[in-house]
Amino acid sequence: MQNNPQDFRAVADIVTEKLQTYLGESQAGKGKVLVQKPIAELAQSMQLEKWIREGGFTPQTAGEFLDVYLPNTQHMHHPHYIGHQVSVPHVASSMADFVHGVINNPMAIYEMGPAGSAVEHVIINWMLEKVGWFKGEHLGDFQKAANSGGGVLTHGGSVANLTALLAARAAIAPESWMEGTPNDLVVLGSEVAHYCIARSISMMGMGRNAFRPVAVNDWEVLKPEDLIPAYQSAKDEGKRVMAVVANACATATGLYDPIDEIGHFCEENGLWFHVDGAHGASALVSPNQKHYLKGVERANSLVWDTHKMLRTSTLSAAVLFKNHKTLSTTFQQKGSYLFYEKEAIGFDIITHTVECTKAAIATKLFWVLAAEGEKGMAQFIDNQYDNTKKFRQIIYEHPDFDCPYETEANIVCFLYTKFGNDNVFQLALQNEVVKRGNFYITSSEVRGVRYLRLTVMNPLTTETHIKGMMKEVIAVAADLQQQ
Ligand SMILES: Cc1ncc(COP(=O)(O)O)c(C=O)c1O
Repeated sequence: MQNNPQDFRAVADIVTEKLQTYLGESQAGKGKVLVQKPIAELAQSMQLEKWIREGGFTPQTAGEFLDVYLPNTQHMHHPHYIGHQVSVPHVASSMADFVHGVINNPMAIYEMGPAGSAVEHVIINWMLEKVGWFKGEHLGDFQKAANSGGGVLTHGGSVANLTALLAARAAIAPESWMEGTPNDLVVLGSEVAHYCIARSISMMGMGRNAFRPVAVNDWEVLKPEDLIPAYQSAKDEGKRVMAVVANACATATGLYDPIDEIGHFCEENGLWFHVDGAHGASALVSPNQKHYLKGVERANSLVWDTHKMLRTSTLSAAVLFKNHKTLSTTFQQKGSYLFYEKEAIGFDIITHTVECTKAAIATKLFWVLAAEGEKGMAQFIDNQYDNTKKFRQIIYEHPDFDCPYETEANIVCFLYTKFGNDNVFQLALQNEVVKRGNFYITSSEVRGVRYLRLTVMNPLTTETHIKGMMKEVIAVAADLQQQ
């Protein structure tokens, strides 16, 4: 394959044809959702070493390679994909990836991608508007930015959460950047906060113990009344609370913390309030679902992944701040080849991010919005949330299943109870279902009980597919029981 426009077109035609078939068959539910071959066999069948050593890919052989590669993927577009919180990307997002892959504009400095940079700023304004933090007259109104919140897209929610915690640290202890993090800082947060929160705290040199868990109820919703003793005990120890972290929504159960109440508590006590909405902030797009985040405007920072519920491919997440000035206090960096005074035609994002080279990730969400419009996106969120409630009801009504809580978002935990609730058995059940590859489901522990877990990401998953999944679970359980 030559690196020229002719071969570009030739290989793109072949790849497009293969992907069209892949997409069509996956969406139609043809074949298995997942086939997992042993890794060595897979490496061999794709002839990876041969290609690395010798090169020589042509458009034709690239197509033959995909004939082996594509069947060995997780088929996200298959309606039986009901597993992790990873979006089934809209084809519009796929096209943004394709364009980026060719032009490769790392637009964190404006001159390395003016168009991508403009898209990111407008997308950030759109997201701020949904939170109530945008004060401009239209989304391209940068003059009014001084009164608005601010934000930046990062490669994923984990980096976005780290950024938010760094901002909270800069607010309470601005000297940290030069002197290191003071050892009297702690973070209060839901005891089931995503692991990236505790990881960020450790990475910031605060030590894992600086995370002070706030109790949750049986279904992983933070108990706001537990904030008071948690805060008091931190103060009694002479600690300062750097941030309070809430989930919107919890990773395992998909239930939202009481944002408004926690926001009130933080306002009363002058504490930085961070909402981890990596999965569930997308409810803000839908007039019917945004009540789950009531009071979010009280927060100081919000993380919101687009590669979960906004239909884009990985990796793309926003970290948003109520006060746009936060963007310029979080990081203080020198790099004479990048950071210097120059005539401002656009805005450089590089001073606001962990990343130096950063892809034009906003284009993915832009393309999806441009295809579906805001209303289409809201309908998608409504569908996924409403369907999950219906699916939960179907599972709940079956005498051999239990689905103990009512869902809010598109995540549902359940048990197959015919042979008891034993954790080891539930996990074996999930493993075997995944191994057979007809359905892809996950599992999670909630308060010591191992549940089977669905995340309804695929708009094509219907009641029929859920009933099929239940039949599969019943059959697998019977087989396991006989062994
Ligand atoms: C609540 C929450 N926060 C953060 C993350 C991590 O986000 P990412 O996978 O984009 O790094 C997840 C991922 O599942 C999550 O559920």
